[in-house]
Amino acid sequence: MDVASEHCECFHRAVSYLEIRDLEKHFVKKSGGLLSHHTDTIKAVDGVSLDIRKGEILGLVGESGCGKSTLSRTLMQLVPPTSGSVILNGENLSALGPHEIRKRRLDFQMVFQDPYASLNPRMTVFSTLAEAVRQRHPKMKGSELEKKVTDLMATVGLDAGQMRRYPHEFSGGQRQRIAIARALAPEPKLIIADEPVSALDVSIQSQILNLLKKLQADLGLTMVFISHDLGVVHYVADRIAVMYKGKIVELGTADEVFHSPKDDYTKRLLASIPMLKAV
Ligand SMILES: Nc1ncnc2c1ncn2[C@@H]1O[C@H](COP(=O)(O)OP(=O)(O)O)[C@@H](O)[C@H]1O
Ligand SMILES: [Mg+2]
Repeated sequence: MDVASEHCECFHRAVSYLEIRDLEKHFVKKSGGLLSHHTDTIKAVDGVSLDIRKGEILGLVGESGCGKSTLSRTLMQLVPPTSGSVILNGENLSALGPHEIRKRRLDFQMVFQDPYASLNPRMTVFSTLAEAVRQRHPKMKGSELEKKVTDLMATVGLDAGQMRRYPHEFSGGQRQRIAIARALAPEPKLIIADEPVSALDVSIQSQILNLLKKLQADLGLTMVFISHDLGVVHYVADRIAVMYKGKIVELGTADEVFHSPKDDYTKRLLASIPMLKAV
């Protein structure tokens, strides 16, 4: 190895926040009749290796059922991988026990497709956000906690005067802002957003996408942005990984993948974007 590429390798390692190595998540299902011993294996994640760099938005795109959500759950250690490893800041998460994993998990938070389903309808915005803040600061209370919740609401563009309201009193876009604030509350370093705008009106989608981009820029967050929509992913992501049947089939800068795709599957995904929906 010459000096230049050696340097390159070091630089690459230094900026990689999350390393996914040969990750597999298989589901085994019984098939046939009650007495049958036959099983089918669904290779939802089938040998994925990816580096997520500090401070980037990595877009993960692919059609429904290709394994995006399973990949995100596996890399957050919400489900154990079948094989392979997830290395966070140089530390192999797969080797840690449940207690240690729970501590590390504060550093990576998720935002889901349906904010209404992911928010507790019986908790006010204040209670929801205060509970999430206390995951990081268990002793915080009173005016300090209220100030923190006020700041979080401002960060996601919500009126702090509404913090005593319940989720159903907000619009879909506002509810997704609450869900984003809750993800930010434990001061994570990485956010995984799994189809965060897929349930929203097109007119609201770009507001939420712009908010996520702003948060990444202002807070230096690292983000994995998951969507089935290549147009949406191109709008927010710095790099795009294309997933097909459990594997990453293409990886490049957002513009490379969007404007000059190499893989046939990416070309098909691109051709399927309705022109009016492209943002
Ligand atoms: N808990 C599970 N048990 C069995 N099969 C599952 C489970 N979760 C996901 N799958 C299967 O794994 C594949 C990938 O699913 P998923 O990760 O949800 O894809 P995506 O998020 O890209 O739509 C699908 O075939 C799905 O049916
Ligand atoms: Mg999914």
